[in-house]
Amino acid sequence: MAESTPDLRALPKPRAYDELLAHTRAVLEGIDDPIAAMATISALVHHAFGHLWTGFYRVAAPELLRVGPYQGTLGCLEIPFGKGVCGAAAREKRTVLVPDVHAFPGHITCDARSRSEIVVPVTGPDGALLAVLDIDSDRPNAFDDDDRAGLEALVAWFAEKRG
Ligand code: SME
Repeated sequence: MAESTPDLRALPKPRAYDELLAHTRAVLEGIDDPIAAMATISALVHHAFGHLWTGFYRVAAPELLRVGPYQGTLGCLEIPFGKGVCGAAAREKRTVLVPDVHAFPGHITCDARSRSEIVVPVTGPDGALLAVLDIDSDRPNAFDDDDRAGLEALVAWFAEKRG
């Protein structure tokens, strides 16, 4: 049933992401509100995989990200483009996968338990950056190309729905 929050950790990642996208679409059916969608996506991704922090930073001004809907402990409020992992993904408009956050120069520590991270840009139909989806894990090397593909598909659906 669409209103549940499934834990998908028992599934192989590609199947987990397929189910996550189908579930997200079902939950958000008929809802045309990007904040509601970002909040719902954050909750579903977070609990599907048991992440440490899952949420969006939105482009709030030129070259500036501001925290949006998320799940986890207190996030940084603002991140300039180019700073930390989120800022790198925003500036380069590409997914950044960090197996060991301690080895990433300039990593911004919001929760000291964070060990690895993936940040996926959200771009509109015209290619402009709208936001980034930031996910932190307390496990080293938690993210791989399956996460990249699954999350990029999820944010592409969100961006298309929103646009
Ligand atoms: N670690 C991020 C900052 C955001 S928090 O993890 C929520 C970074 O370096 O971009």
